[in-house]
Amino acid sequence: MRWWLASLASPLNPLDMFRLGPLELQSHLFLSPLAGYTNLPFRLVIREVGGVDLCTTDLVNARSLLERNKKALKLIETNERDRPLAVQLFGSVPGEMRAAAVDLEQRGVASVDINMGCPVRKVCRVGGGSAMMTEHEKTAALVKGMVEAVKIPVTAKMRLGWDDENLTAPELARALEGVGVAAIFVHGRTREQGFSGTVNLAGIRKVVEAVKIPVIGNGDVTTPEAAQKMFNDTGCAGVSVGRGAFYNPWIFVQIQHLLATGELLPEPKFEERVRVMCRHLDLMVEVFGEEHGCRMFRKVAPWYAKRFGPVNEFNKKVVTVGSRAEFQDVLERYLCWRQQFCDGDGHLLPRFAPPPLVASFMQDPASAQRQSIPVPKGPVEVW
Ligand SMILES: Cc1cc2nc3c(=O)[nH]c(=O)nc-3n(C[C@H](O)[C@H](O)[C@H](O)COP(=O)(O)O)c2cc1C
Repeated sequence: MRWWLASLASPLNPLDMFRLGPLELQSHLFLSPLAGYTNLPFRLVIREVGGVDLCTTDLVNARSLLERNKKALKLIETNERDRPLAVQLFGSVPGEMRAAAVDLEQRGVASVDINMGCPVRKVCRVGGGSAMMTEHEKTAALVKGMVEAVKIPVTAKMRLGWDDENLTAPELARALEGVGVAAIFVHGRTREQGFSGTVNLAGIRKVVEAVKIPVIGNGDVTTPEAAQKMFNDTGCAGVSVGRGAFYNPWIFVQIQHLLATGELLPEPKFEERVRVMCRHLDLMVEVFGEEHGCRMFRKVAPWYAKRFGPVNEFNKKVVTVGSRAEFQDVLERYLCWRQQFCDGDGHLLPRFAPPPLVASFMQDPASAQRQSIPVPKGPVEVW
């Protein structure tokens, strides 16, 4: 029996190691790549909050990396607190993908992930991203070249298939296992679905059943209960979280706690949310400089604010900040404005508390008011 199926018979122990090829990881939970967001400051925040071990960069063009393109090098910027790190590559030229994997290994990167899920036309047109899911032999040959060139684990991230008629992930996963891939990350939607509809847990299960290597489930995990359901219903070895971590950096510790104890951790206090948001800004400034870091933070802060309660005053102002002092000013004014929604002790009155975002697969399928998980704005809005 596969070890993680055995561990499901007894509940998954979050303190168990996760073996990714030669790598021993301290967590079964992973940070998914979110292009435009999973930069060094965000990864550091996530690591400081805890519960996660391997974090992945945004997707990086293999050719740009080899050409020492400045933007590509910024995407793989890391430091000693950002370990272990996976870099996600995209590309369709075998020689370039192989050379980029070797380059990353020499830079001390812990593992290389290959993007096979990106639906963006620019990436698919050149045979990368989800286009890789349509030509298994060609894809397996490219991946084989990478696996043979490096000692670090090579993983693949895919969707369930191109569309409902072509749910090719199990077959592709088997082909990639055959050429030595260490694990498969699978977002339980098709390329055609984009981010709509329900994450197909049965589809993820089929990938799990098709291979012996670990499969890491992904899609819509915004609460610890959703992660637990994904583990239980799919038999996956790990769960990877993208938007849920952006929305709630505490999600990994919350999932670990639920799996270990069967109980939910209390929600972080408002003051803690504000502290972590400010820490995120500090790291953005450290890595990108004050002006650029603050500009980039304009699209980050509203995600923290989704859990603050009434927030329109904050969101209106935060999208204009250009310095740390301006941000501080916006925050202080917001804290005063928010008082009107609080009790005498400064706690948000329950009627103003925002409801949690609920994963598609945790909702009643007949529910007319389907809630979908927002997709952050950015260069790849159709991810
Ligand atoms: C803004 C955005 C950017 C993304 N960028 C990447 C990427 O660079 N590489 C990748 O494999 N997936 C990317 N994805 C997909 C996510 O990694 C993940 O598979 C998807 O969002 C579903 O998981 P989630 O519901 O936990 O976010 C992106 C998704 C979003 C919303």
